[in-house]
Amino acid sequence: MDYEPVKFGVVGLGMGQHHCKAIAAANGAELVAVCDIDMERTNKMVQTYGCKGYSSYAEFLNHPGMEAVCICVPSGMHADFGIQAIQTGKHLVVEKPPDVKAAKVQALIDAAAARGVKMEQIFQQRTSPLNRRIKDVIDSGRLGKLVGINALLPWYRAQSYYEDVAHGRWKGTWALDGGGSLANQGVHTMDIVLYFFGRVKSVFGKFGVFTHDIEAEDHTVAILKFENGAMGTIMTTTCAYRGTDQILVLFGSRGQIRQSTYLEAWQIMHDDDPKREKEKAEEQEMLALYGPREARGETTANDPWALSSDGHQAHIEDLVRAIRTNTDTMSSPVHAKHDVEVIEAIFESGRTGKEVFLS
Ligand SMILES: NC(=O)c1ccc[n+]([C@@H]2O[C@H](COP(=O)([O-])OP(=O)(O)OC[C@H]3O[C@@H](n4cnc5c(N)ncnc54)[C@H](O)[C@@H]3O)[C@@H](O)[C@H]2O)c1
Repeated sequence: MDYEPVKFGVVGLGMGQHHCKAIAAANGAELVAVCDIDMERTNKMVQTYGCKGYSSYAEFLNHPGMEAVCICVPSGMHADFGIQAIQTGKHLVVEKPPDVKAAKVQALIDAAAARGVKMEQIFQQRTSPLNRRIKDVIDSGRLGKLVGINALLPWYRAQSYYEDVAHGRWKGTWALDGGGSLANQGVHTMDIVLYFFGRVKSVFGKFGVFTHDIEAEDHTVAILKFENGAMGTIMTTTCAYRGTDQILVLFGSRGQIRQSTYLEAWQIMHDDDPKREKEKAEEQEMLALYGPREARGETTANDPWALSSDGHQAHIEDLVRAIRTNTDTMSSPVHAKHDVEVIEAIFESGRTGKEVFLS
């Protein structure tokens, strides 16, 4: 579908550089302005994309004709920056997480609703075709009664990652990162776990700082009890040299799915299939589509810059569609607020030593 291009601006030009690339590649999007207090980053984007550069956020928000803003500043600034943009009538793309406090996410949601603007929440795992197939299988009931989901994020970040003095040394802090391995890297894992298994009723968590000089945590483990009765676990770390990709195992009374870098198992019962022929044929088909491929190069398991912008492009195109057709976005801070609530509950549990119940 061809839409009248939406004019985008991007604030925060670390991950925001990927947003610029995604906007330039997306259908129905045009990059008109960028903003960062680091003029080196701003000038690089101005030169690459021929857009206007700003160091003042207030001036950037007044850029003529700009309709949507990608919020890519440090996580604890998302809601404040988002609300400011909403007050000037802008639609938003919000980098993950929507903010580091659920109460601030709610303020963002309320502001967008009051002004009638759309918000797209970046969680690029939701745009993956395999994850959409898994979601369909769960929602159609083919896995049967949902029993368990277990997620591991054994990643690695060098100490230098946390020491970016030029950009505020905010990673691994409570105030601006909301934590460390769970709130920053692991929020992707939390989001996909909740996308598949739904809302969480209670958590029991432990966290600590093991191999980095940071304030919050570089290793967290938690037990999740879901509203639907299933039980799961999540482990996130940035201590696991050399990092490997996220691992997910999910199962119900009629099936099990395992994926890491690629799909590893897709075993779902069929009725009237005593020799499991239909089951095996379906697994072969799924492995052919999503199973192991040739080895890839470096990934974000070790290097935060090794990120493809495909997922971001899908999010940008989804916001364009939602704006031009006046429909809902596929991913928004409305659902992502629960990710933040669960993460806050895990840290509360870690501090108190008690199971924490979500309201
Ligand atoms: N989707 C993903 O996979 C992914 C990956 C990495 C980071 N992120 C998210 O992107 C966001 C930014 O992370 P990052 O790694 O790019 O951090 P970063 O520190 O490299 O970049 C943040 C940028 O914001 C700028 N900034 C700070 N205050 C500003 C202000 N007042 N006005 C204008 N610019 C300002 C900084 O100068 C810096 O360039 C975070 O919320 C993070 O969670 C998402």
